Formats: sequence, structure tokens, C-alpha cells
Amino acid sequence: MIKTWSIFVVLLLPLFDLAFQVMVVEVTDPIKYIYTYTGTMAIILLFTATSLSLIKNKINLIIHRRMIGLFAFFYAFLHFCNFYVFDAELDVDFVVKESLDKPFVYLGMISFSILIFMAVTSTRKLYRKFNKYHRFIYLVLILITIHFVMAQKALSIAQWVYLLLIIIIICFKIKQRKDLISKY
Ligand code: HEM
Repeated sequence: MIKTWSIFVVLLLPLFDLAFQVMVVEVTDPIKYIYTYTGTMAIILLFTATSLSLIKNKINLIIHRRMIGLFAFFYAFLHFCNFYVFDAELDVDFVVKESLDKPFVYLGMISFSILIFMAVTSTRKLYRKFNKYHRFIYLVLILITIHFVMAQKALSIAQWVYLLLIIIIICFKIKQRKDLISKY
């Protein structure tokens, strides 16, 4: 049985690695590096949390889904802070201009707003009331995939592989949903 604390430590390690890369290694373009690191962590953890039900017959990690989802939110929050604090330097005009110039930015904003709602309503009490709205995760997965692709000038081989993985997971989730609906 995988212990919750061990998953917590594993999900926290990238934060220490990111801090080490930015503050010790001193990567050349820290803002771009933080975007890539936090954005990639958030998208990987969101798809992992969503895919747990697909593999639960083989390895059941469903009890850790909430924690993995909250860590995805945490890295998306760091990603947003990188944008608003470091890139925009708290300049709201820049945020508005950037969002209008780069449509992928407001796709990120819409997704992040939905993730805030899902993080807040993931507590036991609120989840009972709002769990049906957690299906918005499918909209977030699609918007974030478009955001990720549009953020690239050109997709690298690795990113094409990501995209293929993302499309496969979305197809399996749609099939799982269809099977669930047809059962009732
Ligand atoms: C709060 C709203 C968001 C803003 C303002 C935002 C902004 C950005 C920007 C400016 C970039 C391009 C960085 C560059 O290449 O220079 C980017 C890339 C990216 N974002 Fe976001 N984003 C937001 C939300 C999200 C969320 C919620 C996720 C995932 C759950 C995400 C995942 C990504 C990924 C994977 C990339 C590509 C990184 C790369 O390959 O270099 N973003 N974002």
C-alpha cells in the first residue's frame, strides 16, 4: 500500500528541484524556465489525477486523486504567479494586453479559474454539494491542451508525444464515460 506521505514528498520534490535550478544553477531565462516547469508539472498531474480511474483495476490510487489534483492546482498557481508577479511585474495593463495579444493566455486564465473552483470545492463537505461540477475537468483538460500547443512556436518530438498521450487519455475517458452512461 503506497503511503500518502510518500506521494506527498514525491509531488513536492519538483518544487525543490525548480528552486535549485533557478537559484543555484541559475538557468539563462528563469521566467521561461518556470513557465515550462510549472506548466508541464500541472498538466502532467491533471492528466494523472484524471487517469487514475482508468487504471484502478490494475493499481488503485484513487484515494490519492484529491492530493494529486491539489498539487496540479498548486503548480498551476505557481505558473500563474510567474506570469503575474515575475513576467507582468504586477502590472494589470500588461496582463490585459498580453491576454488580448496571446489568446492562449486567456485559455490558461479560464482553466485556472475553473481549477480554483475545483480546489475550493474539493473539501469533503463542499465536494458532496458541488461534485457534479467537477466534470468541468474535461473542459479544463481540452483548454489546457490547446493552451500548451498554442504556447509553442513549434512542437518538439517530446511535445508531440505528450499530445498523443493526452489525446489517448481523453479518448479513454470519453469511452469510460459512455460505458458508464450506457450501463444505467
Ligand atoms: C493562470 C493562467 C495562465 C497563464 C497566464 C499562463 C501563461 C502561460 C504562458 C505565458 C506560457 C508561455 C511561456 C513561454 O513559452 O514563454 C504558458 C505555457 C504553458 N502553460 Fe500556461 N498559463 C496559465 C495557466 C495554465 C494552466 C492552468 C496550465 C496547466 C494545468 C498551464 C500549462 C502550460 C504549459 C504546459 C505550457 C507550455 C510550457 C512549455 O512547453 O514551455 N498553463 N502559460
